[in-house]
Amino acid sequence: MSTAKKEYKRVTVKSLVEMKSNGEKISMLTAYDYSMAKIVDAAKVDVILVGDSASNVMAGHETTLPITLDQMIYHASSVIRAVERALVVVDLPFGSYQSDPKEALRSAIRIMKESGAHAVKVEGGDEIKESVKRILAAGIPVMGHLGLTPQSIYKFGTYTVRAKEEEEARKLMEDATMLEKLGCFSIVLEKIPAALTKKVSEQLTIPTIGIGGGKYADGQVLVVHDLLGMTHEFNPRFLRRYMNLYEEMGNAISNYVKDVKSLDFPNDEEQY
Ligand code: KIV
Repeated sequence: MSTAKKEYKRVTVKSLVEMKSNGEKISMLTAYDYSMAKIVDAAKVDVILVGDSASNVMAGHETTLPITLDQMIYHASSVIRAVERALVVVDLPFGSYQSDPKEALRSAIRIMKESGAHAVKVEGGDEIKESVKRILAAGIPVMGHLGLTPQSIYKFGTYTVRAKEEEEARKLMEDATMLEKLGCFSIVLEKIPAALTKKVSEQLTIPTIGIGGGKYADGQVLVVHDLLGMTHEFNPRFLRRYMNLYEEMGNAISNYVKDVKSLDFPNDEEQY
């Protein structure tokens, strides 16, 4: 079993590559607000992702497509104010980097300048190569994201496992190699077969971070609301829930309602 091999006061993009070469698995979790980021950072999660999944879990949209650059900057700056140790990576939202490399750079610069984030994440391979190059050339660290890329959900049609067929697996491997060559510091592999994750992770020197990619990834990422069981309608096979906060929070809030209605709250000690 892999455990922490070195104490990191502050996790950097270099630390992640070092963790991979030391055989230490990388932990990554999402956070979108100050209070959650404080808890996640204090628990020594290595990387905090301000994911565009905020569109789903914070705003209630069906997909990640509607969230805007301004909204991502708002979430990212709230997270940054809480974090002392973790590397904070922020998703470039749909529409902010695909059409034009100059626009991609402008979007990435806004995230870095206005939120204080440490790196950005983009979805896709060859199609966004010029945008990735442009962002990297400005000295902004970039994390890739291949496999199931939720910003392309309308192209895929479903959230099922990607790259099961040889042709798509071959393209994924080529894209991963290309992203490493360009200078990306890590790549998220979402919902692909474990055997393919193994192959990609062995081929690359930069770390892979899996979500539904199996045990061979160099690190793992989950959406924090899923891990804590705050969401309860989303049940993919890859998700391990560590709590059932949906139920616990619901019970706590029902008890509060009951106490207010029955005049039990506030009592004599709870008033001035
Ligand atoms: O937005 C997000 O939360 C993500 C993770 C699922 C990797 O991209």
